[in-house]
Amino acid sequence: MGDALADGISDHEARRDEFRTTPLWGVRFRRFYLHDGRATAFEDAVRAHGGEAADAAQAYENAGTDERAALLRFLGTL
Ligand code: HEM
Repeated sequence: MGDALADGISDHEARRDEFRTTPLWGVRFRRFYLHDGRATAFEDAVRAHGGEAADAAQAYENAGTDERAALLRFLGTL
């Protein structure tokens, strides 16, 4: 997930910047996102994606206002 999210903790084969991909089902019930709870808004969580997931964050940046809003609304339904 890139250097910005890395926590320096290796766990078995998972390196310092590798995390379990959180199931998004039920994400609407959570108030803090990412492994250390650093994000309190869906948008901040999406923008924090780096490393192998950087393309997803970039696609979000490239999307139009309506598309971004639709994605955030969708997350709020899960
Ligand atoms: C537009 C596409 C994507 C959206 C909207 C999205 C959304 C999210 C959200 C909202 C979270 C926080 C969940 C929580 O903490 O409860 C999350 C976490 C995560 N996502 Fe994504 N994601 C996307 C694409 C990807 C891709 C492509 C990857 C991997 C290549 C990925 C890997 C992860 C991982 C590993 C976490 C956990 C990170 C951590 O705990 O610090 N995501 N994602």
